[in-house]
Amino acid sequence: MVRYDHVHRTFDCDPTLTDTQVLDFCRNGFLLLPGVVPDAINRRTCDYLNGTLPAQPSYIPDGLTLEDLERIRASHEPSTILLEEWFIDHVLLNLQVAGVLRSLLGKNAGLPVLVSHHRVECPAAAQGWHYDADHLFGPEINFVEVFYFPQDTPLELGPTELVSGSHLSPIRREASDKGVPTTGPAGTIGIHLQNILHRRGESTAAGIRHMLKYSYWRTEPPKRDWITEPTFDFRTVSYGGHGTARYVAHMFYWLCGKGKEYRIIGGQAWPWSSKNQIGPSYGFGKTEGYLPNWRKNNPDDYAA
Ligand SMILES: [Fe+2]
Repeated sequence: MVRYDHVHRTFDCDPTLTDTQVLDFCRNGFLLLPGVVPDAINRRTCDYLNGTLPAQPSYIPDGLTLEDLERIRASHEPSTILLEEWFIDHVLLNLQVAGVLRSLLGKNAGLPVLVSHHRVECPAAAQGWHYDADHLFGPEINFVEVFYFPQDTPLELGPTELVSGSHLSPIRREASDKGVPTTGPAGTIGIHLQNILHRRGESTAAGIRHMLKYSYWRTEPPKRDWITEPTFDFRTVSYGGHGTARYVAHMFYWLCGKGKEYRIIGGQAWPWSSKNQIGPSYGFGKTEGYLPNWRKNNPDDYAA
């Protein structure tokens, strides 16, 4: 059950991800929940976005008027959909989505305040690979971005393509390079870090593709309060390969509330490992050492 705090626009529920799944998210930077929103709600979302469903905001936020709401609904950022009770209950607080967000963002995560509507008349060419504006590389997960496809979105309708692991450090791709397509039936929701390389895929079929994108926000310090696994061993678990394990482990430690304790000594030491070694890596639990250099030469334009 999802408990919704109407006053603060936050929610709580039981987490659904395990240690292994949270670590997978740190490694990949995204996960996909195919077809989790019911069809009746997907149709209502399309009708709302097409302007054929009357607005029924559950309340009018302080400082806004009905005229403001009409203007916002007609814009490319129709955030008024966040005020519709059916959207709150079945999309924003969807049980499967909420369980993942509770795992990654902790208790009392804040609901979105802004929605982007990516409406595409297909067929259309692929976008160029890009990181979205104001992305930031670092171990912190203070928010995650969510995208929602309210119609069936096979390859032919050009779903978003993501590059797994591209949230750890900046990378470049050629237009001819492929990513992971987020295909799925109507009601598919993706959850990803904002600083992941992505593009709208090429579409070949005719039709309208809607996609809504919005962010959920952490309000409490991170701690390891998802589903813990008794056999999960921080020392021997696999964090990734050369050049990535150091970042993935740092992110996982930050989520566990242990970001300040994290130190590494380099080379073949922890958190790097090979499945061919005859004992655990050296370097685990060091209190002196280094942190990964997420900023490098400040490619994201944020100071250290
Ligand atoms: Fe984008």
